[in-house]
Amino acid sequence: DKGAYPYYMLKEIDEQAVVARTLAGHYFNDEGEIVGIGCGIGDTIKQADRLYIIAAGTSYHAGLVGKRYFENWANIPTEVHIASEFAYDQPLLSEHPFFIFLSQSGETADSREVLDNIKRQGFPTLTIANVMNSTLTREADFALPVLAGPEIAVASTKAYTAQIIVQAILAYSLGDVELDLKQELAKVAVEIQAITDEKMTFQAIAESALQNQHSAFYIGRGMDAAVALEAALKLKEISYIQTEGFAAGELKHGTISLIEEGTPVFALLTQAKTAGLLRGEVAQVAARGANTITISSKSLARPDDAYVLPEVDELLMPLLAVIPAQLIAYYATLARGLDVDRPRNLAKSVTVQ
Ligand code: M6R
Repeated sequence: DKGAYPYYMLKEIDEQAVVARTLAGHYFNDEGEIVGIGCGIGDTIKQADRLYIIAAGTSYHAGLVGKRYFENWANIPTEVHIASEFAYDQPLLSEHPFFIFLSQSGETADSREVLDNIKRQGFPTLTIANVMNSTLTREADFALPVLAGPEIAVASTKAYTAQIIVQAILAYSLGDVELDLKQELAKVAVEIQAITDEKMTFQAIAESALQNQHSAFYIGRGMDAAVALEAALKLKEISYIQTEGFAAGELKHGTISLIEEGTPVFALLTQAKTAGLLRGEVAQVAARGANTITISSKSLARPDDAYVLPEVDELLMPLLAVIPAQLIAYYATLARGLDVDRPRNLAKSVTVQ
C-alpha cells in the first residue's frame, strides 16, 4: 500500500532512512558487535583469495560500491561482474574464489544461470537478497537478508542502498576497521532523512535542468563513478532521457564531443582524492556549454554547487550521493507526465535470460 504517496518509488526513496536503521539493528548488538552474520560465512570467505560479485542492473551497481568495502576493509581482492556476461564468458578464476550474488528479487535469470554454473564447479556461494525465500537464496550455500521490505516500483532505490549497507557490514565483519560502523550507519540514516526532507530542491533542479532535454550525463570519479552509473540508470529508466553515467576522466577520450549548449551534466563530488580533477572536468564541460549541476559533500563544496550533501565516512558517501539522483529521476519523470512506477518495456523481476 503506498498510503498517501502518489507513487511507490517516492515512498521507497523515503524508506531508506528506516532501512538503514533496521539493518544496523539487525546486524549489530547493543555493544556494536556484529551478530547477524553466521560464522560459517566469515570462515568460508576468509579461506578465499578473491571475491566475485555477480549481479544485474542496479544490483550490479551496488556491487561496484561493495567492492570498495571488501578491498579496503577486508583486504580481499574483489571483482564485480554483470551476470549475463559472466554466464557465457566466464573469466579465468583465482584458485580459491568465493561468489557473492546480489539481487533484490532473488529471481533474476541471468544471476541464476551463473549460480548454477558455479555450483557445478563446486565453489562456495552467498546470496545477498531482499526476497529471502527466493531461488537465489535457497540455492546458494549461504544467504543474508537485505531487509529493505517489499520494493514495488520497477526502479530500484531502497534495495540499492540496503545492498550497499549489507556489503559494508559483511566486509567490516571480516576486517579490523577503526570505524564504528554501527554508529556511522545511524548517522547515515539521519542524513538520508535530511536529504529526503528537501524534495522541493530536487524537484526544482529536475524541472529546470531536464525539461525539454533528451540527453544528460552523470560523472564522477572513484566511488562517485560507481554512483554515476546508478544515477544514470535511474534517470533513463523512468524518464526516457538518454543518460550516460561514467568515470569523469573518460570524458576527454570521446564523450565530451556530445556536449552541446545546455546539455545537463550532473557531477557527483564526494571523494577528496579526486575532487580537484573532477572540478577541472566540470569546468571543461561548462566551457563547452554544458549546464553543470554539481552535487558535492560539505568539506569539498563550493558556493555555486547545486546541492551540498551532509558528510559521513567517505566510503559510505554513495549512500547519500544516490538520494538526490533518485529524487531528480523521480521529479523529472513526474514532470513529463509518465508513470513513475511502471516504465515501458520493463518488468520488476527479470526472470528470463
Ligand atoms: O532483482 P535484481 O536485483 O536481481 O534485479 C536486477 C535488475 O533487473 C534491476 O536492478 C533493474 O536494473 C532495476 N529495474 C533498476 O532500477
